[in-house]
Amino acid sequence: MNVLGIETSCDETSAAVVADGRRILSNIVASQADLHARWGGVVPEVASRKHVERTLPVIHEALEAASIGWSDIDGIAVTNRPGLVGALLVGVSAAKALAYALNKPLAAVHHLEGHLYANFLAYPTLKYPFVCLIVSGGHTEILALRGEGERESMGRTRDDAAGECFDKSARLMGLAYPGGPIIDRLAAQGDPKRVPFPRAWIGDSLDFSFSGLKTAVRNFMIQDEGTTPVEDIAASLQAAIVEVLVKKTVRAAEKAGLDTVCVGGGVAANQGLKYAMERACRAAGLRLVIPPPELCTDNAAMIAAAAYPRLSRGQSDPLEFDTLATEPL
Ligand code: KG4
Ligand code: ZN
Repeated sequence: MNVLGIETSCDETSAAVVADGRRILSNIVASQADLHARWGGVVPEVASRKHVERTLPVIHEALEAASIGWSDIDGIAVTNRPGLVGALLVGVSAAKALAYALNKPLAAVHHLEGHLYANFLAYPTLKYPFVCLIVSGGHTEILALRGEGERESMGRTRDDAAGECFDKSARLMGLAYPGGPIIDRLAAQGDPKRVPFPRAWIGDSLDFSFSGLKTAVRNFMIQDEGTTPVEDIAASLQAAIVEVLVKKTVRAAEKAGLDTVCVGGGVAANQGLKYAMERACRAAGLRLVIPPPELCTDNAAMIAAAAYPRLSRGQSDPLEFDTLATEPL
């Protein structure tokens, strides 16, 4: 079954074709990051307008790269929540029009479900149950997944998301947007012990809090007056974020009695997180699954993969479904 996936929830216009929920035939991502860089963050109206220009060309490119035509598409999947509503609407409108014109089933997909299913694309043999840490620009959450649709939230951020902390701290450090990948690169050459940034453990809770860390970075930048190398600040910041993410995820797996840990979302592309998670999982006897960076950041293949279980059972959504700015998974 070939599913055409469409993703326009933030600043990436993406379309993909995925066969049988596991095999990527194409996965085209047109990033707008350069366009938003001068504003230091995503400007919703600018994002929506760019999606209007790019959605159809990107869909055509996805079909061409998969070497298939419209008649080879068996279902359509689109992100409808959560995200920037204007941006979501562009992808959703395109998906509805195509589903109607081609008379194909359509599935509305939760963006975080996509990040979760990126793990099945990366490791087609992956089986439930497992624990999954989802870390993106807008979300930070640990889920226990015991079967298809059987999800339990074990902890989530009480304020900023981890990606938001990377990006806002990077901005305070005078770095460009998006700051996460820049911090990642700089951190590789820095001393992670140079600045003792705080870790918010919140007692035994598996919840996260990153707003205090962001404030600590701001205060440090004011006091430091440019004396500490940026690489050391980046490495220390990354170490503070990563240590909490890793320890709480391992603790969640132990608490849930599960031996497999998955990770998804843009921050899962972070090299420091990957190495620290590998070390911690090995020490705790846990199996670790992290998708390659291009499947961690926003892409439409993960949306197609997330819709496959429902579409393959003959389930679809009526054309009336809406877009939502926020909704928990
Ligand atoms: O999942 P994603 O592409 O979009 C959302 O759903 O938010 O995640 C974007 C976030 C941004 O905050 C970005 O800075 C962060 O992921 N990110 C990274 C890295 N690559 C992307 N953060 C740290 N290290 C990276 N290599
Ligand atoms: Zn995302």
